[in-house]
Amino acid sequence: MKVASHQLRCTECSAGIAPEAAAADFRCPLCGGLYEVIYPWSSTADQTSTRTSGTVMPDVRLPNPSALRWLWQERRTSTMAVDQSGVWRFRDLLPILSNPESPITLREGNTPLYDLPRSAKALGLDFLLAKHQGIGNPTGSFKDTGMTAALSVALERGFEWVACASTGNTSAAMAAYAARAGLRSIVLIPEGKIAWGKLSQSMDYGAITLQLRTDFDGCVRILNELIRRLPIFLLNSVNPYRAEGQKTPTFELVEQLEWQLPEHVIVPGGNLANGAALGKGFREMRELGLIPRVPKISVIQAEGANPLIRSMIENGGETLIPVVADTRASAIRIGSPASFRKAVQTIRSTGGWMAQVSEQEIALAKAEIGAEGIGCEPASAATLAGLKKLVASGRVTPEERVVLILTGHTLKDPEYTIDYHRGTLLRDDELATATPADLNLHTALRKPPTVLDADTDAVLRTVESVLQTPVPA
Ligand code: F0G
Repeated sequence: MKVASHQLRCTECSAGIAPEAAAADFRCPLCGGLYEVIYPWSSTADQTSTRTSGTVMPDVRLPNPSALRWLWQERRTSTMAVDQSGVWRFRDLLPILSNPESPITLREGNTPLYDLPRSAKALGLDFLLAKHQGIGNPTGSFKDTGMTAALSVALERGFEWVACASTGNTSAAMAAYAARAGLRSIVLIPEGKIAWGKLSQSMDYGAITLQLRTDFDGCVRILNELIRRLPIFLLNSVNPYRAEGQKTPTFELVEQLEWQLPEHVIVPGGNLANGAALGKGFREMRELGLIPRVPKISVIQAEGANPLIRSMIENGGETLIPVVADTRASAIRIGSPASFRKAVQTIRSTGGWMAQVSEQEIALAKAEIGAEGIGCEPASAATLAGLKKLVASGRVTPEERVVLILTGHTLKDPEYTIDYHRGTLLRDDELATATPADLNLHTALRKPPTVLDADTDAVLRTVESVLQTPVPA
């Protein structure tokens, strides 16, 4: 039997395969399920996988937990690119490359953990943090952590072409890492439905950008046809190597919290891969004895793009009920999420929740995060909007430590922010759903730009009138 550092295991039927044996669409030929990467130390690396995969994994002896913690800390002072990456600094837990010392890296990860004191106070929580994956990552979203991993695998496997369908951030990340690796990249995006910042990135990094007159789900359908006909490495989140990078923020998070664990981690849900990737990171740390338990992972969707919530309500999450998605949080405008089953498993196994939030609630939460001096793109703000619901329903209690995963930088979608502050984003019927307190908050947070003549008196008059308005608490 061939020896491999890892195997792929179907998350549905548990069949294992050798890493190179995966089909181009990364779906299990037996049941259509998605794969996850397993290692010799994974609790799921059982005999079933080994028998079906035709490979064995070496009996790798991992350093003990305290040695790992020390090693990861030591690498922080290294000048090597592989150590400076917030993904590959943890490479001991993602041995997916034959040459682990030279991945395609843009020094991704290393993202800040901020506190959100005003939002915490408003919610009556003692502890509210935001892990901002849009800041620090080179293309401004959490997708970079997954892309460095999957793109490095594409290069090792000898692919010349990579492709993805995207709502904008995956394509930006893929284009950047492909350019870095010298590979050609093809981006399929829904025409008119992605934010300008993201569209500009894929062009800037030299991708072939195809804007299709359809939605994200339509782009995925075309891409699946494409990869059947051409030798292209698929970089959508069905690619199991993406999750290997996307699990690493959990390692960073617990380091930043000095190995204290939060009770609750909240993510926005689109194609539903990220919550599962973070769940895998926590699960592996627990299996290795690095942490004693796994936090609850909750997923928040926009009301207009809520297939997870609908399916949970209507059939307990047994089968996916696709929807025709519509939300201004364009990153998560997805009606038929590929990682639906993985998300259900993650929510169930961690004891997390899900919630759906309206356009008005997302807009308000985004303005609140902006007013904390942090900012994020609309999809990311769904986390705070969802947290409000979980607190109101008693699912999150005041003493619980909550971490919001902010997935993208505020500059990804400046048009949304400008429309909000100018008062042209939300329709009257959407605003009518806000409580009086929230309406007051909208009024206090909205800061429309004022156009004036270049006249000192006019500027003074405007500043004086603003000074008379009370500052919100
Ligand atoms: N937040 C942002 C900013 C995103 O770009 C995405 C997904 C999500 C949240 C949802 O993550 O899909 O793992 O549930 N964006 C993908 C893209 C679909 O193509 O950029 P998910």
